[in-house]
Amino acid sequence: MLSKSMQKALNGQIQKEFASSYLYLAMAAYCETKNLPGAASWLKVQAQEEWGHGMKIYEFVNDRGGTVTLQAIEQPPAEFGTRVEVFQAVLAHEQKITAAINDLYALALKENDYATQIMLQWFITEQVEEEKSVSDIVELLKMAGEHMVVVDAQLGKRAAG
Ligand code: FEO
Repeated sequence: MLSKSMQKALNGQIQKEFASSYLYLAMAAYCETKNLPGAASWLKVQAQEEWGHGMKIYEFVNDRGGTVTLQAIEQPPAEFGTRVEVFQAVLAHEQKITAAINDLYALALKENDYATQIMLQWFITEQVEEEKSVSDIVELLKMAGEHMVVVDAQLGKRAAG
């Protein structure tokens, strides 16, 4: 059984994951208008992944006998600047998500909630991977210069999953 405080914190994380999905979809829509189909495709895959992260916690709360309470999602921005700035914004957002996951883990440790600790370990590993892949893209875009079209095509090769 989940404690009330852990349930509240996990519901907050469900909101953050679904809000991330919505934010990345807004970024994808922006990239479509800027004629960056590869970046748009990458961001749509990322949006799906974030939806999956939200559902992972949703299922966990239910499996532990808790109650999922969905929270409001703010309207995301519609403008994200240059292509480098788009991915810098993704990186900054992921760093915030990492901090939120770390806070959840600290709470699970404090409460001796071993099941939640194990569930969160997947997210801790995932955040390392996400921050690395996005910071690699930021560096690639910074270096791309006149080869931007090639880089965009590379981003478009990311498979769903
Ligand atoms: Fe679900 Fe990108 O953190």
